[in-house]
Amino acid sequence: MEKRYLEIDEWKIVEKEWNPDNHMKSESIFSIGNGRMGQRANFEENYSGKTLQGSYVAGVYYPDKTKVGWWKNGYPEYFAKVLNSVNWIGMDVKVEGESLDLNTCKVSEFTRELDMQHGLLTRSFEAEFSTGKRIRVEAQRFLSLVADEVGAISYSITPLNFVGTITVVPYLDFDVENHDANWEEKFWAPVEEKVAAQKGTVTAKTKKLDFHVSAAMRFEVYEGGNHITLYPETEKREKFVSNTVDLKVEQGKTYTIYKYAGITSSMNYAVATLSTTADERASTAMRRGYSTLLEEHKNAWLEKWSTADIVIDGDPAAQQAIRFNIFHLFQTFTGVDPRLNIGPKGFTGEKYGGSTYWDTEAYCLPFYLSTTGPEVARNLLIYRYKHLNKAIENAQKLGFTNGAALYPMVTMNGEECHNEWEITFEEIHRNGAIAYAIYNYVRQTLDREYLQEYGFEVLLGISRFWAQRVNWSEAKGKFVMLGVTGPNEYENNINNNFYTNKMAIWTMGYTLEVIEYLKANHADKYEALVAKTNFDESTETAHWSNVIEKIELPFDEKREVYLQQDGFLDKELRSADSLDDSERPINQHWSWDRILRSCFIKQADVLQGLYFFEHEYDLDTLKRNFDFYEPMTVHESSLSPCVHVILASRIGYGEKAYELYLRTSRLDIDDYNREVHEGLHITSMAGTWMSVVQGFGGMKIVDEKLHFEPLLPEGWNSLNFTIRWRDAVLKVTIDGDNFSVENVSEASAEFYFKNEAHTISANSSTSIALSA
Ligand code: BGC
Repeated sequence: MEKRYLEIDEWKIVEKEWNPDNHMKSESIFSIGNGRMGQRANFEENYSGKTLQGSYVAGVYYPDKTKVGWWKNGYPEYFAKVLNSVNWIGMDVKVEGESLDLNTCKVSEFTRELDMQHGLLTRSFEAEFSTGKRIRVEAQRFLSLVADEVGAISYSITPLNFVGTITVVPYLDFDVENHDANWEEKFWAPVEEKVAAQKGTVTAKTKKLDFHVSAAMRFEVYEGGNHITLYPETEKREKFVSNTVDLKVEQGKTYTIYKYAGITSSMNYAVATLSTTADERASTAMRRGYSTLLEEHKNAWLEKWSTADIVIDGDPAAQQAIRFNIFHLFQTFTGVDPRLNIGPKGFTGEKYGGSTYWDTEAYCLPFYLSTTGPEVARNLLIYRYKHLNKAIENAQKLGFTNGAALYPMVTMNGEECHNEWEITFEEIHRNGAIAYAIYNYVRQTLDREYLQEYGFEVLLGISRFWAQRVNWSEAKGKFVMLGVTGPNEYENNINNNFYTNKMAIWTMGYTLEVIEYLKANHADKYEALVAKTNFDESTETAHWSNVIEKIELPFDEKREVYLQQDGFLDKELRSADSLDDSERPINQHWSWDRILRSCFIKQADVLQGLYFFEHEYDLDTLKRNFDFYEPMTVHESSLSPCVHVILASRIGYGEKAYELYLRTSRLDIDDYNREVHEGLHITSMAGTWMSVVQGFGGMKIVDEKLHFEPLLPEGWNSLNFTIRWRDAVLKVTIDGDNFSVENVSEASAEFYFKNEAHTISANSSTSIALSA
């Protein structure tokens, strides 16, 4: 862990000192977003120090031509890149010709604050120029949660020791580049620039795919409550517009520039109306005014927190961390648009291309299912439904037939865009998570309509894939699945990965159940689906049943544990504790071949399967497998610890659970992996939520019923979390003595505490002794 430079605060992230070495980390950590767009905490004014500019528009990407040393048939032609887009925050400031630049000015009284309760980024500082002139700046900005194409900035400047001229230059700049570009080219081509006094628009399009994005700005300046009349000098050049304003300033008075941006993309509007719509957004924002916009934005955030907050009493660092995680998840995805998804770095960096991984279904879905209305999770599922044809094409490219679907490991539009053979071709377990998500959604929402409308077709495509991906082994007298990579990416081309095989047969079994349900309840629709998909029910399902019965699930009789893959026990089994600190993380210190031959596990693999299907296994089985695998797991994926926290909580390993929890919850704030400057681990933040609610809170769903089996970490006085359960909103509190539930909704709910059923009527509370 890096030395902690941010202060602990329950609702805020606070940086109290200007240190350029921390700036890129803070740019990630203090990012803001509203689901439609996101913005790293870059400075408004010019900054010549180290920075990663990041301004992202959801869904807009660039298919960057693949660059690999050894081309393998089946590789995708491109890797999708999330695009650094128009710089809409830009506002240069000059004092008598000298640029305000925190890299060259003398900086004092620096504070940066992210108010997570209200979605607001604030920064203040004093800067001294080479002339000795000093100014104080207070900058605030937000991306409106209500008007999600609007960003607003309030930028106040106070001359501290002089009377004179301060020049401000609000601008829009589309001449931006991606840090991550395979061929070192810029991805945006100019389309149009328009500028006039106190306004401007700039439009650009991606050099491939023709995504158009327009940004518009409007601004005005106030001194105290007084509106200042401006006579700006306008400028436009390719991909750039600006206004230059000379402000005659008096010492001690504060001049505030309110800058409003409207940002629109061709995903939502015809190209012909794009820039006028952007301008309309910016001008409406200016007419309504900063404080009105801010007020409604803050209220929207409070509303979000009202069904999602977690309160940890007795551990302020954990409290701050869990809110940080929830905050960024909501900033990344609001669920209003089924074409959007959650990239592993969200809107906070370019790594992972901003694309969709299995992370969404395996980790993020449970968070949104429990903290937002069902339509949000439903939209995540529909995203994959819309990609079904591409998944079928993807499988065809690899030689599969008959509507078999292989979803991509990484995607923007349904096409695979990952190109490392072991992941692209082998890490096929991702298909299982997509099937599991449908089950997870239905069991939590009871929205069975989803199955006939969308779910069945996806399940069928995935089951067909598994049915073709296995083969019969004469030697074993079993069905086997060869040449895969499981969730543990520190093993490649292995046979019979327990997790993948288990996911395969589970999918086929669940699809069979869904078929029975559809036949019994929606016979006509089912007939239509059979015709649409050319489904030869009896032959295909007979094969599935055969596979389910005869698949190889490696198991060690002596230890009574599932084996991660064939031959796992041939490895030299040692505990990760035996590694020297200087060897960790092993992916930075060991050769790849050594990693592959070792027993060390990157992330939950067998245990991921036991977590998904916890209800099928008794506690002893969970414990034996946990005891076997946890010591060998190096948790070098941020997605790993959460699964271990949940299982450790279940089997009563409180200390272990807490130790692992710390690794996930403050991963980014404390920069455990020394990579936070590249962006935040958004998808693993959902894992942190799972650790608290499903781990310590002990929430799980068994047979469509809500269960709790909590285990409070020792240092915590109490844990309180809010979840939506069907139509009810439940506030659950666990303290040293009691498990209490307050139902703050108009719907009654049923839950099980340690397998004992309880009903809680609308607007009431109940408390049960933990020892009960
Ligand atoms: C993990 C994958 C994950 C990806 C994106 C990798 O390090 O091993 O499971 O999907 O990161 O988060």
